[in-house]
Amino acid sequence: MTRYKRQDPEITRRKFINAAVGTTAAVGGISFLSALGTANPVFRLTRDKMPPLKGDVLVHAGGDQEGTPVKVSELGEKLVRAWPQGKDEEGKPLIRKGDPNNILVLYRFPKGQIVAPTNLEATIDGETVAYSDVCTHAGCSVGDSDTGVGQMKCPCHSGQYDPKQGCKVIGGPPPRPLAQLPITLDGDNIVVKDFFLQMPYPYIHEAEWEEFKKTVEEQLA
Ligand code: FES
Repeated sequence: MTRYKRQDPEITRRKFINAAVGTTAAVGGISFLSALGTANPVFRLTRDKMPPLKGDVLVHAGGDQEGTPVKVSELGEKLVRAWPQGKDEEGKPLIRKGDPNNILVLYRFPKGQIVAPTNLEATIDGETVAYSDVCTHAGCSVGDSDTGVGQMKCPCHSGQYDPKQGCKVIGGPPPRPLAQLPITLDGDNIVVKDFFLQMPYPYIHEAEWEEFKKTVEEQLA
């Protein structure tokens, strides 16, 4: 199985903010949001580094089928990794793997097994669900657990998640669940309905994630 190691994106909103603001805000008492206002004019994110966006098609992230759309019929209780594929400025297909934190996992469970706190409206028929594959502890790629089918385990510090229950943490040090990605069907393709429902790694402040989403929307407008 392919293992994706932690690798921060070359440029992300957060890193940019950190670089631009540094410790000035903390030391000088400048508010975080006012600091963002200062940073806004020069920030630009390339499309391959944008997060999964509404309309993106989920494509295989490895194996013989790498780059081809994932089909629901290919999914089961073992994870399938995927990238979001959007479009570049000229409308050509573009896989958003410029940010390694965009790596995703998909599962399909029998009806009734996916329960709260999973957002069922964001699944396909309550059976197929997508999450970020980046551990919320320190950013390693999470795999299938070797102790329980349909559970996930992080190889770095043994964090465990339950993808049938919103990828809540069921063991180890991760501070919060893996972020759920809302998906739907477009013909045979699995497509993204909206941004992650929760802030994904590497965000630690909701305000940063909300500001990042706003910035992406503004750039696409
Ligand atoms: S990075 Fe996953 S448990 Fe530490």
